[in-house]
Amino acid sequence: MVSRVIPVDPFDLVIFGGTGDLARRKVLPALFRRFCAGQMQQASRIIGAARTDMDETAYRRVVSEAIHEFSPSTACEDGTLEQFLQCIHYVTVDAMGEQGWAELTEKVTSVDRVEAYYFSVAPSLFGPLAERLQGHGLADRRARIVVEKPFGRDLATARELNGTLARYFDEGQIYRIDHYLGKETVQNLMAVRFGNMLFEPLWNSQFVDHIQITVAETVGVGGRGEYYDRAGAMRDMVQNHLMQLLCLIAMEPPSRFDPDAVRDEKLKVIRALEPVEPHHIARGQYEADPDDPETHPDYRTAVDNPRSKTESFVALKTHIANWRWAGTPFYLRTGKRMRQRSSEISIVFKETPHSIFGEEAGRHRNVLSIRLQPNEGITLGVTIKEPGPGGMRLIDVPLDMTFADALGADGGESVDAYERLIMDVIRGNQTLFMRGDEVEAAWAWTDPIIEGWQNRGEVPKPYASLGSGPDDANNLMRRDHREWRKI
Ligand code: NDP
Ligand code: BG6
Repeated sequence: MVSRVIPVDPFDLVIFGGTGDLARRKVLPALFRRFCAGQMQQASRIIGAARTDMDETAYRRVVSEAIHEFSPSTACEDGTLEQFLQCIHYVTVDAMGEQGWAELTEKVTSVDRVEAYYFSVAPSLFGPLAERLQGHGLADRRARIVVEKPFGRDLATARELNGTLARYFDEGQIYRIDHYLGKETVQNLMAVRFGNMLFEPLWNSQFVDHIQITVAETVGVGGRGEYYDRAGAMRDMVQNHLMQLLCLIAMEPPSRFDPDAVRDEKLKVIRALEPVEPHHIARGQYEADPDDPETHPDYRTAVDNPRSKTESFVALKTHIANWRWAGTPFYLRTGKRMRQRSSEISIVFKETPHSIFGEEAGRHRNVLSIRLQPNEGITLGVTIKEPGPGGMRLIDVPLDMTFADALGADGGESVDAYERLIMDVIRGNQTLFMRGDEVEAAWAWTDPIIEGWQNRGEVPKPYASLGSGPDDANNLMRRDHREWRKI
């Protein structure tokens, strides 16, 4: 199935940190794929900016290598990479000093078009960058800034950062990235909920027993040990990605699919989240891979901190205090070095109130599973009669819609989250970006959980590498006579 691509008007995008890991792995390959798809036009300009002194030719080489390494299978005709590289420019700029700003200003103020500034640098540079953009006359109404995570490390720092950015930019100019919101299936979640009559009447505590959100990764902390050990799974994943998924599942139908209508509803969910009881949380740290401890060491070795109390796994139960969800628990779970890479949301419906088939037929429940990755798709477990003679025995079978099967061999056009989000910045659509008050509300819920661990001096439990997390996580479910979906 070929989707229609509407080109965006030529734009200027300055990538601060244009030589860094994120720019090379995600941002530049995403732009290249939009170029190949015909959405980004040749007249657009991408300006890498960092302190390293290099000329345009050298930077074009950096970009070319990044695309070969991180987007090797992009189907793009011969010569297209060369054309794309013509859009690439570079300025040596110091976010903390005056070097390069005059040249950058000259480059971007020459034409009347959207100007976007991607802050792909350490969070400590977000404030100085905003200040300098304003100081050099680059923060006018055409300007948009794209701010990467982490957005603060608690409520106080997030507030401070929001305050700093607000001094130079309106909220309508600030695009806070949560790349989970750019994932195809995450948006499909809204389409499923609000585009079908089928589910909405059942979408409440009267019919839903509980909801599970799992984001499991097989990778460890990789080369980001220093950052990760200061963050942990709660700050790195739950406060943002899992929180956003929870919001989309739990929010009331917005009146329109527009940025503020959607974000108002998400905010109400976050504000209605109940504090989490300490015994409703399980934390873990992964152990070394017994078969290959050199390549996959334990968490503490990986982050080079033998006494680390930071969690690489967290599972918790929370409730939403409103009419729709009172009494329905939400179970969230995320971890590194887990058995499988698997991100899934499961809506587990209640059992039928009475079985007309007698006790031996068993009691069954429907489960709607939304798989974010891999094999994006949606499965609805339904109960049917087991085929064959000899009584009414019931079994559960999946009604499975794997997007790749339903939409053609390529699953529709596969668009990476960063491709969609960057194009939304250029189009000026903030629906899939976090608003400042949302981020603060999420920290307000997260902070007491983390402070509680610190005050009680809690140490995460070890869990087997490539397993399903610590026993405490299973006990959390067992106590409620429930179980986690298999990963
Ligand atoms: P890197 O350390 O790989 O890159 C940092 C970039 O910033 C480099 O291009 C560096 O170039 C530039 N830089 C550093 N200091 C200055 C300065 N004073 N002025 C101008 N440029 C400067 O970091 P990442 O790419 O990994 O991360 C960037 C941001 O993205 C961070 O906020 C991170 O938390 C976030 N992020 C990263 C993810 C990832 O997977 N990498 C995932 C999600 C978010 P030079 O030294 O030449 O100046
Ligand atoms: C990032 C986290 O935001 O998301 C990483 O900082 C994590 O720790 C990553 O690995 C997961 O993203 P994805 O798209 O691979 O599920």
